[in-house]
Amino acid sequence: MIFSNLVVKKDEPIYLQIEKHIKQGIKNGELKKHSKLPSTREVSKFLNISRNSVISAYEELESMGIIITKRGIGTFVLIEGENENYEYNVDYIERINAYGDTLKKFDIVKSELPYKKGMISFKSISPESHLFNLDDFKRSFLDAWAYEGANLLNYGYAKGYKPLIDYFLEYMKEKQINTINKDILITNGFTEAFDIVISSLTNKGDTIICEEPTHNTALKIMKAYGLNIVQVKMDKEGLNIKSLEEALSNHNPKFGYLIPSYNNPTGIVTKTERRKEIYKLFRKFSVPIIEDGFNEELLYTSSPIDPIASLCGSGNGVIYIGSLSKILFPGLRIGWILADDKLVDILESVKRGKNIHSSFLDQSAFYYYLKSGAFNRYVKNVRKYYRDKYNLVVNLVEKYIPYEYITGEGGLHIFVKLKNNLDARKLLDLCYKDNVLFMPGDIFYENMQNTSKFITGNDTFRIGFGRVTDEDIEKGIKIIGKNIRLLTKA
Ligand SMILES: Cc1ncc(COP(=O)(O)O)c(C=O)c1O
Repeated sequence: MIFSNLVVKKDEPIYLQIEKHIKQGIKNGELKKHSKLPSTREVSKFLNISRNSVISAYEELESMGIIITKRGIGTFVLIEGENENYEYNVDYIERINAYGDTLKKFDIVKSELPYKKGMISFKSISPESHLFNLDDFKRSFLDAWAYEGANLLNYGYAKGYKPLIDYFLEYMKEKQINTINKDILITNGFTEAFDIVISSLTNKGDTIICEEPTHNTALKIMKAYGLNIVQVKMDKEGLNIKSLEEALSNHNPKFGYLIPSYNNPTGIVTKTERRKEIYKLFRKFSVPIIEDGFNEELLYTSSPIDPIASLCGSGNGVIYIGSLSKILFPGLRIGWILADDKLVDILESVKRGKNIHSSFLDQSAFYYYLKSGAFNRYVKNVRKYYRDKYNLVVNLVEKYIPYEYITGEGGLHIFVKLKNNLDARKLLDLCYKDNVLFMPGDIFYENMQNTSKFITGNDTFRIGFGRVTDEDIEKGIKIIGKNIRLLTKA
């Protein structure tokens, strides 16, 4: 009975107390819409009050459209109560841990100047999507569907889609990597692969040696896990050997993280001889290497160079991470880790713990795409496309941008060091007003910060050109050049 908890007070008209009690009952969900109220006679008897008070309350509520009396049937609630709702607020920002805080702090998608429609953007190094061969991919998708059917929509295996694993194992062999006692784990691109390796094999405070400058996402992940990052200077051939030896002997590092084939951001390609020297040094100091095979497939200014992983024969000192993201379908988020099979067995459990497995539908479609030979045709095609753009960019930069040096042997970007420590962020601010965007270089350095004082990399920037039309490349580089001259005069 709705009135069992109503204590009638003497200092307030009784009809009002009944009216409020019914309204409260509706509000808190005790009285649902369409539910029947006790008759006025029952209420007066139950509460030992005059029936007229109850009738007045019911009439008042009826006039407000809250209840309705149907002659000979009864009185019913006409309206819905509010959902039960007890406001409860928590300060989540206050509770964010160091991991979340670091990733937020260094989230350049949020902190850097945003792209606006109509701008010429050299910021991205993504591939040009109009080059994707959609018909080939559509066929591969239908093949996957025909061979695997609904299985692709059920749970799969953490390690990955077996035919794709076997494909990548063969692919690694073609790159002269010895795959005996090694295995592959399929991941969501390089980024997850790196996260899995780092989170499984390092502890807070461990030191990682990497190139200076290096991939911003890798820096961010290492920082989030509380690692100590030691960046080693590069020259035009790759890591400087003397500096590397010093770093290896002074810092007792846990790992090296290297991008030998198109370092991001410099675009420097480490040649075979230098790769050997680097590998031998890491081996001498018993420090394993995480090799990022980034953009290997796009090498077009030199003959193919085997990965560092190919140098360790049947040894397991190199963990190779592969991803075709910057060439083909980054949206599929497919990458892989090739490593010692006992390690992969553990990383497989880590992957399962993180997200069960990568999408089998995507892996299968990707596998049929690679198997069909479409990938080889596509790579040939895009190499030419990007090589032409690269040549255009280099010619224009040489003509319009006063630089100390530029690096980059192709791929999808080049890197510019400005003369006289000119601040690339000031340059970016000016260019942004002219609707031109690029990536400031400081984000690729351990001290990555947008600060006003000079820090390493402040006088550098990256020009990504994969998705910029030739016309805009010319327009944009001229604008950058004009603004450098403005800043230099100031
Ligand atoms: C150095 C480097 N490695 C790998 C990748 C690819 O990452 P993902 O496969 O997660 O897209 C990138 C993308 O920018 C990169 O710069």
